[in-house]
Amino acid sequence: MIVAIDGPAASGKGTLARRLADHFGLRHLDTGLTYRAVAAALLAQGLPLGDEAVAIEIARNLDLAQMDKSVLSAHEIGEAASRIAVLGGLREELVRLQRSFGDLPPGAVLDGRDIGTVVCPDATVKLFVTASPEARARRRTDEMLSKGQEANYASVLEDLKRRDERDSKRTVAPMKQADDAVLLDTTEMDIETAFQAAVDIISRAKDT
Ligand code: CDP
Repeated sequence: MIVAIDGPAASGKGTLARRLADHFGLRHLDTGLTYRAVAAALLAQGLPLGDEAVAIEIARNLDLAQMDKSVLSAHEIGEAASRIAVLGGLREELVRLQRSFGDLPPGAVLDGRDIGTVVCPDATVKLFVTASPEARARRRTDEMLSKGQEANYASVLEDLKRRDERDSKRTVAPMKQADDAVLLDTTEMDIETAFQAAVDIISRAKDT
């Protein structure tokens, strides 16, 4: 069983994916972390983000079990991740890794931007989780503040909009809702309501 969850930055898809994986007894992969891990390695070595050959080499040696979300969630790493995410050869390498994660039993929940369209087009069920840019910027600002990081709502909103634009306009695997994905707009929902709605959608799809 594969659950594909896509959506824009800070839509809540990561939290949802984690809880859904727990609920259905599946493994979970936040594919954004794979792009973040490659970007962080390039930044740490002071290499240009456009150096695709090195990026591919880093991706080949990536150990999913070693990815540390608390380090990789830094704001500037998210920005760098979206810049390297336009590199087609790098995406091929990461997609290979993501698919092999999904292939292991008992199945998995994968979240990202292109799971329903490219990584797992035959997923059992696909969700596209979204929310207004303002709601997402509010959530991301609160999340950063709660971790003791500095955050300014206006600049977070601007960054999110710029990243959404880059992610949806790129030529390789742009972020978009798959034709057979169910749209879940969480603008007016808290996480509990969004979770229940997602459980209902997945339970229905699983039984058909
Ligand atoms: O957590 P947040 O929504 O801020 O971002 P993320 O899911 O960690 O993804 C960071 C960046 O990686 C995105 O802005 C995308 O450019 C890229 N990404 C992608 O291209 N394809 C994926 N399947 C996942 C992430």
